[in-house]
Amino acid sequence: MSENLDGLAQENKIVVRDLMKVYKRGMKEVIALRGIDFEVGTGEFLSIVGPSGSGKSTLLKMLGALDKPTAGAILYDGHGVTLLDDKRSMLYRRQKVGFVWQTGNLVPGLTALKNVMLPMRLSGAPKGPSDERAKMLLETVGLGKRMNHKPHQMSGGENQRVSICVALANKPELLLADEVTGELDTETAQMVMDTLRTMNKDFDTTVVNVTHNPRVAEYADRVLRIRDGLIEGQKHTLYGDITEIDAKGRMVIPETVRRLAGLGKRVVLKATSEGLLITPLSTEEFENNNETGN
Ligand SMILES: Nc1ncnc2c1ncn2[C@@H]1O[C@H](COP(=O)(O)OP(=O)(O)OP(=O)(O)O)[C@@H](O)[C@H]1O
Ligand SMILES: [Mg+2]
Repeated sequence: MSENLDGLAQENKIVVRDLMKVYKRGMKEVIALRGIDFEVGTGEFLSIVGPSGSGKSTLLKMLGALDKPTAGAILYDGHGVTLLDDKRSMLYRRQKVGFVWQTGNLVPGLTALKNVMLPMRLSGAPKGPSDERAKMLLETVGLGKRMNHKPHQMSGGENQRVSICVALANKPELLLADEVTGELDTETAQMVMDTLRTMNKDFDTTVVNVTHNPRVAEYADRVLRIRDGLIEGQKHTLYGDITEIDAKGRMVIPETVRRLAGLGKRVVLKATSEGLLITPLSTEEFENNNETGN
């Protein structure tokens, strides 16, 4: 790649390059991400919108180091997230990232206040400051009067706002939100998105929000559209495994790469200044070439 990744990493909080994820289900492979490139600036509010199955949750899991991609890179403050071992992944999640899921992340038996205090107490923060910060966060999202209510005593939108406070309890730099308005009516969804926006502005938290709802996506500074594991309108690069060329010039192209690039039994080879370009040869072209060539 000729691109200056170090320079990009200095200008952006997150740089994602050629991200690919292939899930294996028995003998079958599902390609969830086919080579994704984007950047997120510090303090930016980015939405990624796409239909069901387009790879949104997969992408968010990779950003949050909850799973590893098959290929590609994620740089966070210039550090490779995909290269972290289990312990460092855990520290990255705990210290840098807050998650909000559609289903929420509240403990049913605890009040809103106790739910928001929990992550702080678990990471060893003293009771007084945890209590103070939890109250401040709940007041910021307009739930000052609901602090002693348990999840079942609150509405879906209220619970989602508490979930946002839980995610922000340990002051993460990055908030990852997955379909947080999925189950809410338009008005409540708007309130939850306003809350995300407030948190983004007041605490300078970088937000990546994924949704299938274009109207919800519009709350962001910038919207990227994802479809079939690709960002729309983006020219993507495919990453293959390292492969050897034998003495007879034979090279094995991994099946995943072959499928992604649409390569069949015959290909066209072109030596370019960037390397070798391998493109599929359609049967039609092959027949024409044979007729004219001989
Ligand atoms: N653990 C897994 N094992 C196998 N396939 C998976 C797994 N997780 C996701 N997939 C597949 O990967 C593709 C992308 O899934 P993903 O959950 O990222 O989509 P999504 O955009 O979040 O969809 P939705 O809007 O429905 O939540 C889908 O085809 C899905 O079936
Ligand atoms: Mg999803």
